Amino acid sequence: MRDLRIAILNGPNLDKLGSRETEIYGPGTYQDLVDACTAVARELGVAIEISQTQSEGALVERIHAAAETVDGIVLNAAAYTHTSVALRDALLCHDLPVVEVHISNPDAREPFRRENLIADAVTATVKGFGRQGYELALRGLVTLLESGSGRRKTP
Ligand code: DQA
Repeated sequence: MRDLRIAILNGPNLDKLGSRETEIYGPGTYQDLVDACTAVARELGVAIEISQTQSEGALVERIHAAAETVDGIVLNAAAYTHTSVALRDALLCHDLPVVEVHISNPDAREPFRRENLIADAVTATVKGFGRQGYELALRGLVTLLESGSGRRKTP
């Protein structure tokens, strides 16, 4: 077991996976996603805490709490990616590595999804790989943490 802790933070409407726009997000439920992340974490030998919230404020609070307790974050901020200065500012408060993940490729969707207020406040981004993006993000984050090169870019 590696001595690494990772928070996987999910934003609004991701709890609706399985019924929400399944042509974009696939048929699996949020619980399926949790189970898949748990299996990858077990394989990698890292501890994960996975959560979802509809609330922008709660996401900000979870980022600050995670910065005290984990080594890195996988973040799907969902719609707040495109709107939230508060989220951006929260990420800029901390130096721990953050891998942004999106199930879809927001750049290939409606024009407003090309606006991303957190892109330069995170270490890396995985998008467009479907749910497998969470696995790729977790594997990538562990690699970054083990190589010691996971600090976020300074904007
Ligand atoms: C999403 C993409 C966002 O544009 C959207 O608002 C979401 C999900 C994704 O995972 O593809 O809620 O973050």
